[in-house]
Amino acid sequence: MKTLSAAVNAYDKKSHINRELYGHFSEHLGRCIYNGIFVGEDSPIPNTDGVRNDIIEAFREIRMPVLRWPGGCFADEYHWRDGIGEKSQRPKMVNTHWGGVTEDNSFGTHEFFDLCEKIGCEPYLAGNVGSGTVEEMADWIEYITFDGVSPLSDERRRNGREKPWKLKYLGIGNENWGCGGNMRPEYYADLYRRYQTYCRNFSGNELFKVAGGPNVDDYHWTDVLMSIINDWHAKAISLHYYTIPSGNFEAKGSSVNFTDEEYYSTIKNAQYMDTLIEKHGAIIRRHSDKMKLVVDEWGCWYDVLEGTNPGFLYQQNTMRDAIVAAVHLNIFNSRSDIVCMANLAQAVNVLQSLLLTEGDKLVKTPTYHVFDMFKTHQDAQLVYSFTENSVQNNIPVVSQSVSIDADGKMTMTFANASLDEDFEIDCSLVGYEAKTADACILTEDVRAYNDFDAPEKIKPAAHSAELTDKGVKFTLPKCSVVSIRLS
Ligand code: AHR
Repeated sequence: MKTLSAAVNAYDKKSHINRELYGHFSEHLGRCIYNGIFVGEDSPIPNTDGVRNDIIEAFREIRMPVLRWPGGCFADEYHWRDGIGEKSQRPKMVNTHWGGVTEDNSFGTHEFFDLCEKIGCEPYLAGNVGSGTVEEMADWIEYITFDGVSPLSDERRRNGREKPWKLKYLGIGNENWGCGGNMRPEYYADLYRRYQTYCRNFSGNELFKVAGGPNVDDYHWTDVLMSIINDWHAKAISLHYYTIPSGNFEAKGSSVNFTDEEYYSTIKNAQYMDTLIEKHGAIIRRHSDKMKLVVDEWGCWYDVLEGTNPGFLYQQNTMRDAIVAAVHLNIFNSRSDIVCMANLAQAVNVLQSLLLTEGDKLVKTPTYHVFDMFKTHQDAQLVYSFTENSVQNNIPVVSQSVSIDADGKMTMTFANASLDEDFEIDCSLVGYEAKTADACILTEDVRAYNDFDAPEKIKPAAHSAELTDKGVKFTLPKCSVVSIRLS
């Protein structure tokens, strides 16, 4: 087995890893909200106020820090007033983007904020710019956050919520270059300035406003947007980038049947996130030394599973997805000087999900387990780390990041994307004396997945990590993710 040297310098402190880098996204799409997270109060599936108990528990377990809602493309067609008040009186609408199904608005503002309280996470709203109005967005913020007396806060009280909710993260539109209005950056940037003006900070609530950023490598969009807005108008701009095996939206590829070649191109495309952050980040920094990047949609996007509604974006989640997740999370940690939030698309039953459901059954995907293994990076401090690499199929296969938390414990996370080579990692630690090492590993055949009849085929297992004179040594088998906690 080949030994790769690694080094960590605990004296070389880098950026703070915002816990929001481990964020998620839930859209009114397919079975993410309805028949996923939200089954309704009358469901035989154990629930609290209509939200599945097993899902709340699973989200809490990984310390979900933030949840984005209600879209996605859906956000720019969503009118929040349709989702408040007596449920039987709520108007129905057609979900034009996602399967043309009827949306009955039974999951609305109150249900979403209550869900976030149950999870213990920050809500992140995507407001409607595409088909909405400034007044509508301004009213929503007042309805949610105003503590005083006004027609809107009184209406909230009549609808059962006395105290306002806290709302930090507000996205002004979604993909305004595409489904959110097909705008030019100049036009959107001016609209952004106008909309954000009327989204007020009520009753001590302070909004963190996110402007709708570029699609993938549209550096022109970033440059124009940044030249028209500044850090007084927005705290961050967003970036959307999905990993598609073929790189082609028209023929994405299957989530379960893929060749080795498709696997390696998937990993290569996932690694491209690093370049995108670097380049968009450099443009942001040219214009502002404060503004950040919010990667509020990322993940693998494959063809839908055969026999499922093409508008529901339902796919399986294999060990390949676990490697992709680990690659992304290591990138986000390493780029936490500029990335302040990231949201996997999506939380349940859509795209690279954390959880899949079928009736009362629930499966934790390999991706879920990666979030669990990485959770101690949340709010820790990134420190310098380096690993010798191995190049296979034109990509470096090892990825890593290391942080130290407020209690002085170190988290090291490694991924080996190789399909045929195991490594021994011999890691030197500078400025850190480890007395204990607890390691765990996620590994299986790259095409393996958890299904409803075998929900625990892939799950983390204890791994061995040996403390040495100079640091720590462990094996990093092919197609594996390893996390080590040192103290
Ligand atoms: O996550 C699915 C869709 O992908 C979102 O609705 C949209 O924002 C993006 O194009």
